[in-house]
Amino acid sequence: MTLDPYLIKRVPKWHWKRLTFTAWAKLSDLHSRLFFQEYEIPMIDRVGEPGAAPDACWDETQVTPQQAAYLLKALALADNCGECVVEVGAWRGVTTEYLAAATDSPVVAIDPFIGSANETNLRRFMERTAALGNVTLRRETFGQAVRNWNLGPARFIFIDAAHDYVNVSHDLAAAMRITKPGAILALHDVDDRRYAGCRRAVYERLERFELIAHIPNLVIVRRS
Ligand SMILES: C[S@@+](CC[C@H](N)C(=O)[O-])C[C@H]1O[C@@H](n2cnc3c(N)ncnc32)[C@H](O)[C@@H]1O
Repeated sequence: MTLDPYLIKRVPKWHWKRLTFTAWAKLSDLHSRLFFQEYEIPMIDRVGEPGAAPDACWDETQVTPQQAAYLLKALALADNCGECVVEVGAWRGVTTEYLAAATDSPVVAIDPFIGSANETNLRRFMERTAALGNVTLRRETFGQAVRNWNLGPARFIFIDAAHDYVNVSHDLAAAMRITKPGAILALHDVDDRRYAGCRRAVYERLERFELIAHIPNLVIVRRS
């Protein structure tokens, strides 16, 4: 599997391995920004007409109503190729809530909620999902979760976690370990120059997938 950027944090800050990795990660993002246009992903819509956007607290998510409608449509398409639905990066639980309300499958929300700055986010997540019996929070990174995975194949994964090149590359590789062909992956923030590494990581792996939708800042692919 591609190196988990969170694992390198166990190595002391001044160790050459960590310094080399950090330099490579920064250079990768710089390259992604400089060549942002080269990694443009074609706009495409093969999911069909999405339904209405869900009721949601749009102030507590960066996912737009249009993107939410596409996520729900894509979730409905991924009905036969796995057991659970996975969200990587749950934050305040807005996306978790409407994904979980739209399925009977177990929904695994993965987010480490690292540091005191995340206390409010974790509290909002718990409040928002308390009534949803199919939601489980795994308070760890996606890499940790996948290394200990025992929940069967995922049929749908929404990746909206750390948005740099090394993390998105890792998360895509990790997603391959817990999915089978046919599973659907959605990735957020693929057209934002601030997250140029996110777009590049997706672009470079497109041949492993069928691109089924790309609307502004959201890509949806099916694993080949
Ligand atoms: C953009 S927010 C997610 C927003 C959420 N999907 C929504 O729209 O409501 C990103 C989240 O990813 C989490 N995160 C960062 N790195 C992660 C990782 N390696 N695995 C899982 N979650 C991660 C952060 O703690 C943060 O809460």
